[in-house]
Amino acid sequence: MKALITGATSGLGLSFAKQLSETGHELILVGRDKAKLESIQRQLKTKTKGIVMDLSKEANVKSLYVLCKNEDIDILINNAGFGMYGAFDTMDLTTELEMIELNIKALHILSKLFLRDMKKKNKGYILNVASLASFYPGPFMATYYATKNYVRSLTEAIYQELKEEKRNVVVSCLCPGPIATNFNRVAKVQFRMKAMKSDDVATYALKEMLEHQKRIIIPGIKLKLLKWISRFIPSTWTLKVTRKMQQEAIQKEN
Ligand SMILES: NC(=O)c1ccc[n+]([C@@H]2O[C@H](COP(=O)([O-])OP(=O)(O)OC[C@H]3O[C@@H](n4cnc5c(N)ncnc54)[C@H](OP(=O)(O)O)[C@@H]3O)[C@@H](O)[C@H]2O)c1
Repeated sequence: MKALITGATSGLGLSFAKQLSETGHELILVGRDKAKLESIQRQLKTKTKGIVMDLSKEANVKSLYVLCKNEDIDILINNAGFGMYGAFDTMDLTTELEMIELNIKALHILSKLFLRDMKKKNKGYILNVASLASFYPGPFMATYYATKNYVRSLTEAIYQELKEEKRNVVVSCLCPGPIATNFNRVAKVQFRMKAMKSDDVATYALKEMLEHQKRIIIPGIKLKLLKWISRFIPSTWTLKVTRKMQQEAIQKEN
């Protein structure tokens, strides 16, 4: 079995890499940091290829597919992504557009191209990493939340298409809350909620996708409860609460 993981140089992507290596998977890992990729390759037990690539460029994403299309990928994990904090009008447009390219466009392209191959083989798994943010609009992280809403909506729709076709191909969407990774440092934000360990999130996500073929994967009982309760709360309230939580998040950092 072989897995392709984007954003595997740190955090959740690295946890996926370590766990899939433990279970005997060969790996292709993608990230921009060459030194980190090389060091990870040395640490992992199974055959691991590192590809240094900036996936916020469409041409690179297409090249990644060309490089990997004959590798017989069984598991694709679209994990690379980042967030940004600030009022919408104050956020840097160039960085925001890079985020849209990475969080949405790269994931979209890779999902489509690898899904076509997996459907031909009638086997395979794609795990798209969204966020709990994917269920809501997010004042002060408006663009990030919107990118994750896109990821969840796209993934759920594909899941249903595949289910109706009775294929052995599964597309799942991972929707975690805060995880202790480099995410906060990059997004320049500190959340009030306790962060989960990336290894725990990865273990749970892989089990739910590979063993239970889940459409939506929400790690942690508290988050599941929060998501369930939020169904009964008017969207105007949810917006106010999210805004308050996000505003307090930056106040802590400052
Ligand atoms: N941490 C959280 O609280 C949290 C919560 C919900 C969802 N998520 C999602 O989880 C995923 C993983 O994030 P993380 O928390 O593990 O953060 P992280 O530790 O910052 O990891 C992000 C990964 O993405 C890679 N990456 C960033 N920009 C890239 C680019 N342009 N091209 C290729 N790779 C790129 C980084 O590698 P290089 O720097 O080497 O390129 C790194 O390996 C993201 O999609 C994030 O939105 C995180």
